[in-house]
Amino acid sequence: MTFAANPPLTFAESDRSPLSIRAKALVFVDARSQQLRERAEALASTGMPLSILGETGTGKELLARYVHRRSERAGLFVAVNCAAISPQWGEAELFGHVGGAHVGAASSRAGWFGSANGGTLYLDEIADLPRPLQSKLLAALETREVYRVGASQALPVDVRLVAASSVDLARAVAAGTFDERLHAYLCDGQLLFPALRQRIGDILPLAEYFLGIHAQRLGLAIAGISPAAQAALQAHSWPGNTRELENVIHFALLLAGEEEIGPEHLQLPGG
Ligand SMILES: Nc1ncnc2c1ncn2[C@@H]1O[C@H](COP(=O)(O)OP(=O)(O)OP(=O)(O)O)[C@@H](O)[C@H]1O
Ligand SMILES: [Mg+2]
Repeated sequence: MTFAANPPLTFAESDRSPLSIRAKALVFVDARSQQLRERAEALASTGMPLSILGETGTGKELLARYVHRRSERAGLFVAVNCAAISPQWGEAELFGHVGGAHVGAASSRAGWFGSANGGTLYLDEIADLPRPLQSKLLAALETREVYRVGASQALPVDVRLVAASSVDLARAVAAGTFDERLHAYLCDGQLLFPALRQRIGDILPLAEYFLGIHAQRLGLAIAGISPAAQAALQAHSWPGNTRELENVIHFALLLAGEEEIGPEHLQLPGG
């Protein structure tokens, strides 16, 4: 297996490229999410490393992209899911490599860290980063230098780390699976993303937002959401948070077509 055969795990976007409506819109109506947005905005321009803690599907990556835009850092936003980093090739994927190095690739590659130079590196599920890479990551951030695999000289880098986690990082430190110093590096800039069930004021605005997006995509006229369906949406516990809400609305629209969405169109398993 060669390094080049690895599937790309990142996608990057330039801040100057036109963003899709989905990347732009941030529906934050509930007082708790407005507080979160204010804190994110205040921290954005500081350039501090941040951690975003929240359940799956709450919108951590959307918030990280918002922070990047508001930071006015000129470089790219590079998103990497640490759960998908291979223990074998992870160091070369993250830090890059030089041609002919023992990764078996002929050409050099910048790696995700280098690609985020001047911008933001978003590490999703950072607790899943292989342990040896945790300390290498911290060293690169602190020294602002990176060694590509196979290189003898360090390259200067300026990277802002935004890390996301759905597990409690302090507990991961206590369990010995997460680097204590990396945790300390991240913990001043914590953003706690409340679960959707704790932000009831966001549920209907988000439902309307997703209804609008999907109706437009499907070329359907919107008949709205009935009061009974609205009550059911607000009473649900949303274990999959905003992503689950989007899926429920999308499916309800497919069932209802141009009729009003009623409780019979909502698939809400498990209360
Ligand atoms: N406040 C919001 N306004 C509009 N769309 C949102 C909002 N929050 C989340 N979404 C949408 O919900 C989906 C899930 O968001 P995102 O991928 O950012 O969540 P996540 O916390 O990173 O999830 P995971 O834990 O699975 O990585 C995305 O399609 C995102 O665009
Ligand atoms: Mg995510």
